This record gives sequence, C-alpha cells and structure tokens, in this order.
Amino acid sequence: MVGAASSIVLWLAGPLAGQPPSAPPTTSPSIPVAKAVETPAIGYSAVHVDGPFVAMTFDDGPSEKLTPELLDILAQHHIHATFFVIGRNVVEHPEILRRAVREGHEIGNHSWSHPAFGKMRDESVRAELQKTDDAIRTAIGVRPVLMRPPYGSITARQKKWINSEFGYRIILWDVDPLDWKRPGPAVVTSRIVRETRPGSIILSHDIHPGTIKAMPDTFDQLQAKGFKFVTISELIAMGKPMPPKEPGTEGLKPVSSPSVMPIPQQVPGASPVPGLANP
Ligand code: NI
Repeated sequence: MVGAASSIVLWLAGPLAGQPPSAPPTTSPSIPVAKAVETPAIGYSAVHVDGPFVAMTFDDGPSEKLTPELLDILAQHHIHATFFVIGRNVVEHPEILRRAVREGHEIGNHSWSHPAFGKMRDESVRAELQKTDDAIRTAIGVRPVLMRPPYGSITARQKKWINSEFGYRIILWDVDPLDWKRPGPAVVTSRIVRETRPGSIILSHDIHPGTIKAMPDTFDQLQAKGFKFVTISELIAMGKPMPPKEPGTEGLKPVSSPSVMPIPQQVPGASPVPGLANP
C-alpha cells in the first residue's frame, strides 16, 4: 500500500511540477469597495477581519450556577467573551456581571424579559431595552454599547431607531450550534468547530448545562486551529473593508464567508420569530 500511495503522490506531483509559472495576476482597476463599509454599520452577524479572530457570545444569563462555571473555564483558556444578558437576571445577580467585567468580558443588552421585538410596539421595545440598560449600568457602572434582539427578531426600522436612540450596535451571529435544543455537548462542540471562520460571531447560551460542558473541548479545538477570541467590540474594531469579489471564486464559501455586513432586512439564517422555544 505504501508503494501505491507513493506512486499516486508522484503522479500528482508530475503535472504540477511541469506547469509553467503561474500567470501574472490580472489587473482589476478600480473595483469599488462594498458599499457596506462606507458608513459605520449598525449591525453585524460577522466581521471581515485580517486574522484568525472570532467572538464567542453567551445569551440569556447571568445564571446563578452556570455563568460562574463558564467564567472559570474562560479564565483557564484565557478567553474574553461577550455576554448578552437578560435584565431581570441582571438584577438577581449583579455580582456575576461585575465579575465578568473584571475578568475582561463584554456585556450587551438582550432585553428585560426576552420577547420577540419584531411584532412589538416601539414603546414596549423601548421599555425592555431601557430597563435592561439601567440594570446593567447599576451593576457595572457603564452602559452597554451592544444589543442582541431575542430570537434575532427585529425589523430594519427597529434597528435604525434603536441604534439612534440607544447608540447600540445590533449583533446577530453566523455560527449557531442550536445548543438551546440541548443536543449534547459533543454535538455543540462539533457544530461550532465546523462552522467557525475568521470573523465569526458564535451564538450560544450560558443557561444550558450541556453548553457549559461543551466549552472546554470547543475552546481547545478552536485554539488548536489557531483561532483567537476577542470581544464583539474588539472584533468590530478590527473590521476591514470587504475585498472585491474575484471572478470564479463565488460560491466557494457559501454561508460563512465573513463579512462586514449591515444586517439585511431579514435576519440571516435564523428563525425570525420562531416558536418561542429558542432562547
Ligand atoms: Ni436569547
């Protein structure tokens, strides 16, 4: 078998070695840069970055038992993450938020009671966000600059007024392990590791024991692949303009090609207003 394998390698090497030097790159004069980067984006589901940087995000906490366990794991791996917290949980456990901030993590607003914004009146959305903004500021002394709508449910109009009133950037995700369905830690890990690309924003929830159990392997495997973890604000600060599309490369990276994306009208991939099962 060794002989056969070697001959295959040689057979492959032959034509490649015999190829002429690659042709000079075709010049592509003045290809316009994607419009998306001309103004600061209101929202992101991933960020186009020049390096192996990704952001791990945890929603729906803080959880009295699980979030401190997760903070221990994050500290062991020297990873900074972003927590999108529920206001009514914040007032229960402000000390957990303080610990998270002390240890280098970022906090974002994930509403007071986790409703789907998409079909709500502005006053109700405003109240959900303001109460949580107040709770976070009371807990850690500063206001959040990020918001993630529960279920990813938000309209284009809501994004605009929320951004202008609260100054929030609206953060979705491009990697979703569906951990809220509790598929087991190994599945959560393999989904995240398979789908993560440079610039990815990874969704998960620090209210499910299986998610916490999945994190040591997930972090080990992503770090072994060379990924480096930063907070969402750090990832956004690293954002680079989208490269111009090269002919012939379209379709190679269908879903996850990281990009600076103002969030399109419809929430990408995600269950916009699904049954309320998805936290
Ligand atoms: Ni949630």
